[in-house]
Amino acid sequence: MTSTPYPPELLRDVAKRRTFGIISHPDAGKTTLTEKLLLYGGAIQMAGTVKARKSSRHATSDWMEVEKQRGISVTSSVMQFDYQGHTINLLDTPGHQDFSEDTYRVLTAVDAAVMVIDAAKGVEAQTIKLLEVCRLRNTPIITFVNKLDREVRDPFELLSEIEDVLKIECAPITWPVGSGKAFRGVYHLMEDRVLRFAAGEEKRTEAEVISGIANAQLDELFPMEVRQLRDDVDLIAGASAPFSLGDFLAGKQSPVFFGSGINNFGVQEILQALIDWAPPPQPRDGGLRMVQPAEAGFSGFVFKIQANMDPKHRDRIAFFRICSGRYISGMKLRHVRMGREMKLANALTFMANERVLKEDGVAGDIIGIHNHGQLQIGDTLTEGEALGFKGIPYFSPELFRAARLRDPLKTKQLQKGLQELGEEGAIQVFEQEGGNMLLGAVGQLQFEVVAQRLKDEYKVDAIFEAAEIYTARWLTFPDEVTRRNFEREQFMRVGKDVDGNPVYLASTRYNLDVTREKWPKVGFHATREHGQVLG
Ligand code: G4P
Repeated sequence: MTSTPYPPELLRDVAKRRTFGIISHPDAGKTTLTEKLLLYGGAIQMAGTVKARKSSRHATSDWMEVEKQRGISVTSSVMQFDYQGHTINLLDTPGHQDFSEDTYRVLTAVDAAVMVIDAAKGVEAQTIKLLEVCRLRNTPIITFVNKLDREVRDPFELLSEIEDVLKIECAPITWPVGSGKAFRGVYHLMEDRVLRFAAGEEKRTEAEVISGIANAQLDELFPMEVRQLRDDVDLIAGASAPFSLGDFLAGKQSPVFFGSGINNFGVQEILQALIDWAPPPQPRDGGLRMVQPAEAGFSGFVFKIQANMDPKHRDRIAFFRICSGRYISGMKLRHVRMGREMKLANALTFMANERVLKEDGVAGDIIGIHNHGQLQIGDTLTEGEALGFKGIPYFSPELFRAARLRDPLKTKQLQKGLQELGEEGAIQVFEQEGGNMLLGAVGQLQFEVVAQRLKDEYKVDAIFEAAEIYTARWLTFPDEVTRRNFEREQFMRVGKDVDGNPVYLASTRYNLDVTREKWPKVGFHATREHGQVLG
């Protein structure tokens, strides 16, 4: 018998973990699916719970309201529940007005993602962006094509759109039988059985499953739709790739399920796919070496910071993904970037079912650490080793504003505030030639939050004005001479980020393309690692 160097209980616990996020465009059905997954997991008792949170959260983007909802958003940021002997961590990817860099960063902490597509609309803008982020780490994606109870687009057309736009191969696992008013269910291609559509049922009964696509019962029940189904299935054999677990795990192929979240239909199959196919926590690049999830030594990284719930106390919650070892309350850890010891007491653990308190965590789990700003996104904590987890990048902002002061005597405070908020990851801050402060975000609400926090925490009244910037790219240079020549020629368009890295602030796409062409040896990067200083 071969023995592994890993503690057996840790190996066992890690193997049970599934940590994932849901990616979708607003209104495709993410909240509904989240709620149904929690219902199946026994974590909530009643439909409407998550939905109520969502509507109260989006009733207004007013800061005070946002602030009030923070208690809720902390607890709904990570939802842990048990299902069939597995522990599932569902990480919320904020959408709608809450869409921000956090949405992207959450995806650096998951091991798999479920992509929800509205079957009437197909692939939409935000899904494209989020999938690009998943692609940075080849995250395996399970696709859920939702709202089949409505008039929807042709399923073949949807799949080829996903393949063309998102550049990921689709392997249908279930296939719809009819749609809209004539939605009869789905045919499971691997199990050769039809699952009949019944609205609102949580548990499927025997009578709702019909085995064999040739089964005469199908002709009796829905003669119109079954003919189409049989034709489709013949076509699928030639048109689509069969499911390959290896290609799925490599992020090259996505298993596709059809259903209707609101009717609990297809949700169970998604959970099953998560358990059967989605990977448990994987080894992570810790800079010095690969870190194995079942190693005894504790380690992990911060992927999101949630600002203080009480503006008077500048405490923040750092969301920390465990990469190895076991969290034990009161443990002493090394804060690698700051080179000092930190006691980890009173970390928040997350359970979707609030009645259960849990005090431990292993790789794949998330803990919330209270701190006063000493933790930044990308920070690594270990039991001593100087690891630095990779793959938690800054993303190029898509919206820009120039910060101006109402009271020019407060320049120092503004700079301090923006530096700190920039380091925390609330917003990206660039300093332009002449000392202008430029803010970059991926979601509009980030500006509102920063304006309010500058007022509350730094007593600075700042106005954010439109800035004619199309995008930012981090720069790398082959040598010092090129750097100097580039900065001399492009001084109007070059700025520095909070860590002093050079950034190209392009006015238009054309401007970016032209400059790139002119300077082929200069690197223009859409992402940058946290804590990394560019050469
Ligand atoms: P999101 O989090 O991705 O933004 O989507 P959400 O779940 O809130 O769903 C958006 C809308 O789509 C909601 O309707 C929801 O009820 C509906 N929906 C979700 N899944 C299905 C489905 O399988 N079939 C159909 N027909 N509709 C679905 P709403 O009108 O915005 O809200 P509500 O009044 O229904 O609560």
